[in-house]
Amino acid sequence: MPRRKSRDSKTVLVTGGTGLLGKSMEETLPPDWDIVSLHQRDYVIVDSKARHLVLDIRDKRAVDRLFARRRFDAVVHAAGIASVDYVENHYAESLESNIVGTLNVTSACRRTDSHLIYVSTNAVFDGTRAPYRETDTVNPINKYGRLKVECERLVQETLKHWTIVRPILMYGWNHAVTRPNPATWIYEKLMQGETVSMVTDVRENPLYNISCGSALWAVIAKRPSGIFHLAGRDEVDRFEFALAVAEVFGLDKSLIRPVTSKSFPGLAARPKNTTFVTARMERELGVRPTGLREGLAAMKAARTARA
Ligand SMILES: NC(=O)c1ccc[n+]([C@@H]2O[C@H](COP(=O)([O-])OP(=O)(O)OC[C@H]3O[C@@H](n4cnc5c(N)ncnc54)[C@H](OP(=O)(O)O)[C@@H]3O)[C@@H](O)[C@H]2O)c1
Repeated sequence: MPRRKSRDSKTVLVTGGTGLLGKSMEETLPPDWDIVSLHQRDYVIVDSKARHLVLDIRDKRAVDRLFARRRFDAVVHAAGIASVDYVENHYAESLESNIVGTLNVTSACRRTDSHLIYVSTNAVFDGTRAPYRETDTVNPINKYGRLKVECERLVQETLKHWTIVRPILMYGWNHAVTRPNPATWIYEKLMQGETVSMVTDVRENPLYNISCGSALWAVIAKRPSGIFHLAGRDEVDRFEFALAVAEVFGLDKSLIRPVTSKSFPGLAARPKNTTFVTARMERELGVRPTGLREGLAAMKAARTARA
């Protein structure tokens, strides 16, 4: 249930607030803040700590009306189409959600002088020169990455008060109505006794969503400008990731098959290694990178506590 707003509490607008990132902000919500979680589809989310608002960010008038009516102490812009393969195959629709939507949100922030935290991605890199620092040159290899680079430029070139965060592959318990992530997807498959094919040629240092939430609240509090890479401690490929899920949840590892990306010729190209350097996240946001097994164990403990 949303908390009762105290007179002194501040409000952050989180566009795309029902995704895994928005959920992480609910789970790490500081006592003096409220969240307005904006999303496109009209559904009810049980156990949400946020107030919900159904609005399509492609609709400029609706976005303008919202900012004219309400004052936000911070804006986290995470809404858009975030499925790499969906963007590759539905480019026109993705341009509207990701570019037009971001243009509408940045325009409203510029007019109201709001601090915007734009949520970008590791897909801005080509994966040939890991580990990546915030100062490294972007060079996306798929359409999703190219749209994110354009949005980063839009934010940097049109706003005074901005921060860009680039989360890498995120895992954690998502709201039931939203898309699964690799940890929950593998968990469900193995629970059903199904085999899963996982690639050995895509490497990341996966980010536990609770760490992502902590990093975002630190950005909101400190309002630093510039770019932050958000990632976990351990570098793994997707096959090793799946093995860790099986190990921590006590599931059958023999159901996990190692393959390479060549087994999925219909999918959009993925950068091979986009592992991040997390020094800036640690130093300036005070967030320690979480180990993969530590994050998965925390997920397991959270599930056990609810059962
Ligand atoms: N998840 C990851 O591993 C990861 C990694 C790197 C970067 N990121 C970035 O992090 C951000 C959040 O990702 P996520 O996984 O938490 O989100 P997600 O599960 O993909 O959810 C997307 C959110 O955006 C909303 N949305 C989409 N189009 C919209 C529109 N036209 N108007 C209003 N709302 C709209 C969706 O609302 P509905 O539910 O109503 O459709 C949903 O709340 C994205 O920008 C993504 O690129 C994510």
